[in-house]
Amino acid sequence: MGVQVFTAVTGAAWESELVGALDRADHGVTVVRRCVDVPELLAAAATGTGQAALLSAELRRLDGDAVSRLTAAGVAVVGLVEPGDERAAARLRQLGVQHVLPADAAADVIARALREAVAGTPRENRDVADPRAALPALGIPVEETDRPAGRGRVVAVWGPTGAPGRTTVAVGLADESSRLGVSSLLVDADVYGGVIAQLLGLLDDSPGLAGAARQASAGTLDGAALVRLAWAVRPQLRVLTGLARADRWPELRPRAVSAVLEEARRLAELTVVDCGFNLEDDEELSFDTAAPRRNGATLAVLEDADTVLCVSGADPVSLQRSVRALDHLREALPAVEPVVVVNQVRRGPVPGDAQREIAAALERFAGRQVAFFLPADRRATDAALASGRTLAEVAPGSTLRTALRKLAATLAGVPAPARRRGLARERRAG
Ligand SMILES: Nc1ncnc2c1ncn2[C@@H]1O[C@H](COP(=O)(O)OP(=O)(O)OP(=O)(O)O)[C@@H](O)[C@H]1O
Ligand SMILES: [Mg+2]
Repeated sequence: MGVQVFTAVTGAAWESELVGALDRADHGVTVVRRCVDVPELLAAAATGTGQAALLSAELRRLDGDAVSRLTAAGVAVVGLVEPGDERAAARLRQLGVQHVLPADAAADVIARALREAVAGTPRENRDVADPRAALPALGIPVEETDRPAGRGRVVAVWGPTGAPGRTTVAVGLADESSRLGVSSLLVDADVYGGVIAQLLGLLDDSPGLAGAARQASAGTLDGAALVRLAWAVRPQLRVLTGLARADRWPELRPRAVSAVLEEARRLAELTVVDCGFNLEDDEELSFDTAAPRRNGATLAVLEDADTVLCVSGADPVSLQRSVRALDHLREALPAVEPVVVVNQVRRGPVPGDAQREIAAALERFAGRQVAFFLPADRRATDAALASGRTLAEVAPGSTLRTALRKLAATLAGVPAPARRRGLARERRAG
């Protein structure tokens, strides 16, 4: 019987001709249902009687959510656009449709695309781990040689519960990389409520990431729209603020957040994403698999990122949480090789040589090496908190700032400047 296909191309002049041509047995596809709109297509997909959907770009109310739901139902999607309509093709791709063809393509070409889409690896199994993600862990600057132009890096800053300092690290990295002359975008993607706007003294009722995700879902997000939605904090630093209220997490759909990051790569050389801590996949708790999942956005960011930082605290309780979180990450996304950053390192909570003991514990219990240590520096973080400014502004000579600057240089793939040169360059940039 071949691949069973739902079509949703009603209204297009070429519909009946195409469906007739497709249905000829020798193409290896069978049209099992002709749907008139998105709700009917989703209902058909939920029956499990088809493996692919052929839809037209003009289909009303088609958005990223509908495409995600089709994919979640195991239905591969092929899109058709009017010949030469590049905008429609780009929009479909932004919605998550990877196979897009002109509607006047021959039936056997369309049939082949349908078979290939079905055979294609599902997103979950994509090998997204860039082996170079492990390079910073070895203290080796990341080479940019095989990165296509306009394709910036994405660094996800993640870590266990217990406030190990993810946001502090994310803000510090984005700010420092911008001061090193690297165009940077800081994205607050914490699905448990964003605080970056508040930390930087920005209005937190701006649409920010949720607005960008909404536009991505509608297929209308482009570079200009992203620039409008982001705050320009410094010449090289833009900020996409997060959810002002934690209960608005359903606005951060994974597919849409991925599309925002894709656009971010075109806008900035380095995108730093502050992520929520939780990876639990609540799908099993829900009978409706299409129900939104709170941690889906975090998983999408970690999967898409070139580098995933796991920020850990430096006391025994935090280390224990990090061991669990790293285990969880290994289960959820086995291809991701996190770069472990231990923050708030100080004498006291760990006896003896703190760095050595912490490294040994994480190696032994999580099988991970620590790539960077960041010192506890309460005076510096308090000064930043009190003034709504960054460490570079309020505590430029602090140990924490110096360490973050070094980490930023490594992640951005630029040499860490000697202090005086760095300050000179900073003055020029800022
Ligand atoms: N290296 C450090 N030295 C001293 N204080 C720090 C350091 N890093 C973070 N802090 C402080 O610890 C607190 C928690 O940090 P932060 O908000 O960055 O953590 P988080 O992991 O993002 O937490 P949340 O779970 O709330 O998102 C803040 O008050 C911050 O100023
Ligand atoms: Mg935080």
